[in-house]
Amino acid sequence: MQKITFLLITLLMMSCQTQKINKKTPQGFIADKAMVVSARQEASKIGVEIMKHGGNAFDAMIATDLALAVAYPFAGNIGGGGFMVYRTANGEVGALDYREKAPMAAFKEMYLDSEGNIIQDKSTLGALSVGVPGTIAGLFAVHQKFGSLPFHQLIQPAIDLAKKGVVVTENQAVSFRNAMADFEKANQKTIELDRLWNVGDTIKYPKLAATLERIRDNGRDEFYKGKTADILVDYLNNLGGIITKEDLAQYEAKWRKPIVFDYKNHKIISMTLPSSGGICLAQILKSVEPFDLNKLGHNSTEYIQLLTEAERRAYADRAYFLGDMDFVDVPINKLLDDHYIKNRMSDFSWEKATKSSDVSHGNIDLIESDETTHYSIVDAFGNAIAVTTTLNGAYGSKVYVEEGGFFLNNEMDDFSVKPGVANMFGLVGAEANSIAPEKRMLSSMTPTIVEKNGKLLMVLGSPGGSTIITSVLQNILNVVDFKMNMQESVSKPRFHHQWLPDHIKMEPNGFNHQIKISLQQKGYLLDESANIIIGKVDAILVLKNGKLEAGADPRGDDKAAGF
Ligand code: DON
Repeated sequence: MQKITFLLITLLMMSCQTQKINKKTPQGFIADKAMVVSARQEASKIGVEIMKHGGNAFDAMIATDLALAVAYPFAGNIGGGGFMVYRTANGEVGALDYREKAPMAAFKEMYLDSEGNIIQDKSTLGALSVGVPGTIAGLFAVHQKFGSLPFHQLIQPAIDLAKKGVVVTENQAVSFRNAMADFEKANQKTIELDRLWNVGDTIKYPKLAATLERIRDNGRDEFYKGKTADILVDYLNNLGGIITKEDLAQYEAKWRKPIVFDYKNHKIISMTLPSSGGICLAQILKSVEPFDLNKLGHNSTEYIQLLTEAERRAYADRAYFLGDMDFVDVPINKLLDDHYIKNRMSDFSWEKATKSSDVSHGNIDLIESDETTHYSIVDAFGNAIAVTTTLNGAYGSKVYVEEGGFFLNNEMDDFSVKPGVANMFGLVGAEANSIAPEKRMLSSMTPTIVEKNGKLLMVLGSPGGSTIITSVLQNILNVVDFKMNMQESVSKPRFHHQWLPDHIKMEPNGFNHQIKISLQQKGYLLDESANIIIGKVDAILVLKNGKLEAGADPRGDDKAAGF
């Protein structure tokens, strides 16, 4: 009898343990056929409402983007730019570049003093850090090509939201507080938003509502040639800025061919230059493809080592080769060549870290011609869109065009202001990404779509400057190799290496102590500075039953909506 009781207890314990091991993070929000996942609930809901009224994912994109400009001024914008990757229901893929560009009066040494040293803050704060904004041009380009509902219907919810006001979250209260001193510096006065906002306060944006109404009534030209253009240029000129009305009038969004490649029987579709995202993502995924990652174990010492070494090499190439391909020759095909990538990894050793000082860009003959925001959308017709948009830093340049009610970007800092000197994300660059009039600054934004067996599988992307690429990478691996559900994948701790500085950034408390020690023993330097969060991934996974699962990043206020 005693023996039987013991056996039963043992069996019960074993089953509990198995349940524990198999216990998965609960799935994210599930929708039957259409979904938006974005940085703010208000924006996700607005995008979904458009689709409920018969709009497609492109219509929803326009409404969501404009709603983020109101509800999430930290990064949502009309004074910045972004990238969009799409896959239509019939499998056609494409990409839109509405990245900011350098004003015509920009020049290579514009942020350097007479001795060639960088003038502090000049490329990051205030009027001179602003690139010519692309967002409104981007949204109108999308509407012209794919929109099915009239533009005024898509912009109206953002206008209504700006009038009604948006409730301040904890994250927003903190970010406003952190930016207050810089608002004053950049605008040379106190701006109307410069108040100590508390959680639960409602902020109304009447001036932004009026600007959006003018855009609704006068179209794209309102921003680039009309009253809004006048307001913007006058305000910037008074602060010493160099953007002219001609700069605005000349701005064009550009349709681009996305970077498309295979990874373990999946097709990855991601952003091309002037974002480095797709190229770096391809290099890293191709470098790790020959390995059985499950065998290494998720976030194990070996897994972290392998990804770090692949990232180190890809970011070294990024720094040297990548820039706006309309201005410089970038050997894209060579950089994505299987033999080249294999060769780059040939000196990788499991025993010991490679030093970044021993890694340079690869050998290629140049003969071949927490501030950004990402949202993912799938509509009921089967179209999918990944969009990452930004002002660059939090509230961009902090320049707030008061009469228009919007912030302007500080995207100029994404250029390599001085070769070999790091920008605000610690990224170094070279001649390929130097400043030139009308050139687009190199980005890391990586809006990405994944297909399996010819069908849509996943839509994802992230903010996070240089860490965007590695955040997207880890989520692809979480789902493809480790079979995680979308919410579990997005919530997992992340790490990042970018060649220089030569350390692995890790989210604090996310990693096993023993694993950190063994990495250090192999010569890896770890950076777990307090409060680092790496990326905020908003993603959608198509489940086997055809339903959609959201991954809304718990690191922010991100939320999904759908039906
Ligand atoms: O284009 C880029 O790579 C940067 N301007 C993105 C900035 C960003 O993600 C800020 N977010 N934390």
